[in-house]
Amino acid sequence: MSTASFPQGFVWGVSTSAFQIEGATSADGRGPSIWDTFSSDRAEACDHYHRYPEDVRLMKDLEMAAYRFSVSWTRVLPDGGKVNPAGLDFYDRLVDELLAAGITPYANLYHWDLPQALEDAGGWPSRETAHRFADYAAVVGERLGDRVDTWFTVNEPWVAAFLGYGSGIHAPGRKSAADAFTSAHHLLLAHGLAAEALRAGGAAKIGAVVNISPVMTPAQVSDFDRPLSEEDAEAVARIDALANRQFLDPLLRGEYPADLLPVIERAAGLDHIHDGDLAVIARPMDVLGINYYAPLVVQAQPSEPADPAFPGSEGILFCTVPTAVTAMGWPIVPNCLSLLLGRISREYPAIDLMITENGADFVDVVTGDGIHDVDRINFIEEHLRALRAAIADGARVRGYLVWTLLDNLEWSDGYQRKFGLVHVDFATQRRRLKDSALWYRDVIRRNGLAD
Ligand code: NOJ
Repeated sequence: MSTASFPQGFVWGVSTSAFQIEGATSADGRGPSIWDTFSSDRAEACDHYHRYPEDVRLMKDLEMAAYRFSVSWTRVLPDGGKVNPAGLDFYDRLVDELLAAGITPYANLYHWDLPQALEDAGGWPSRETAHRFADYAAVVGERLGDRVDTWFTVNEPWVAAFLGYGSGIHAPGRKSAADAFTSAHHLLLAHGLAAEALRAGGAAKIGAVVNISPVMTPAQVSDFDRPLSEEDAEAVARIDALANRQFLDPLLRGEYPADLLPVIERAAGLDHIHDGDLAVIARPMDVLGINYYAPLVVQAQPSEPADPAFPGSEGILFCTVPTAVTAMGWPIVPNCLSLLLGRISREYPAIDLMITENGADFVDVVTGDGIHDVDRINFIEEHLRALRAAIADGARVRGYLVWTLLDNLEWSDGYQRKFGLVHVDFATQRRRLKDSALWYRDVIRRNGLAD
């Protein structure tokens, strides 16, 4: 196999999420989610709810093998309790449309759109929400389980817990360190309980999706092996525990990192972690989805107050670095993808991996003869090289899904962010392929890069 081609059977595709593309927020009995309450943007998004046949056709034309979508909890259970058959019917139609197009469906159950009714009843800081999630998983599993290839339970629990309940920049906008840590635990528990419910219903493959970012100092961005001062090493380890190991260790080892427990205890106590929870969270799964975008760059700075997104990060500065960045300002460091895959494969060796999201926001210019998004092509190409190198070194990565198919509603940042392979004109809902879409089709055709 050449260094540019990928293993046989490697899965290529794209990911999306319900709130970001579906629109139709009150169609056919859908109930309000925390993002309907929180978002100031009109949520018509890409009107995918009505235009899904066109979107599936686009993916077919681009020769995608797999599509990871999320199910909107409030289409299926508008108030978190009672089933809405019309909501389930939509996903039924979508899955059939995908299968007819030869595209393997990967369903993700929680991409941040908690039913508002469940938030009103306590939200993720309440343990009950994890049980309600398992009920929801059972309902969707029963309806789609005969056709969905892989089930992902929760997407990026760090974001849902710490941006939703810690810094409050995401829905539901609460700002409490205690709520953030208890939410994180309940999201993990929700994964475990949902996985049990899906297995009981005979689901094929099950996984969770975590956002993992290598943590490093500014000097390490250009030299990963640069030695660290004791203070910087401590800062790096603390953020790594909060951002990465808080999720990897419970899921894959059935324990919280020993250096994180005192941080959790100080902020939230430990009473929310019940005996037996970690065994449920760590039941064997089939695949771990990894979303990778950028490293976290930090250094020790004694006077720094804690970042509310990382309660317990006192004395640590989050740094900007003199390197290329995306329009979001995220540093572009493709080799971090090899670094993190090497690390996970070494430290958590038993699990198969899938890159469930990777992609970039750049300012696109629409011209008379197309959208020549060279930056996005370069971004994906460099990350694929890094991924290929990690696989050559033994990382067990089974597939790669670009974030994302369509320009869409980027949470608190609204419509200004452009991550799509396909441009969407939000006034007309017209879709136009960017150059990156055609380039990616060629990657899929040859199962790898050109050289
Ligand atoms: C990860 C999230 O899962 C997705 O919803 C978001 O749009 C991308 N990151 C880009 O920020």
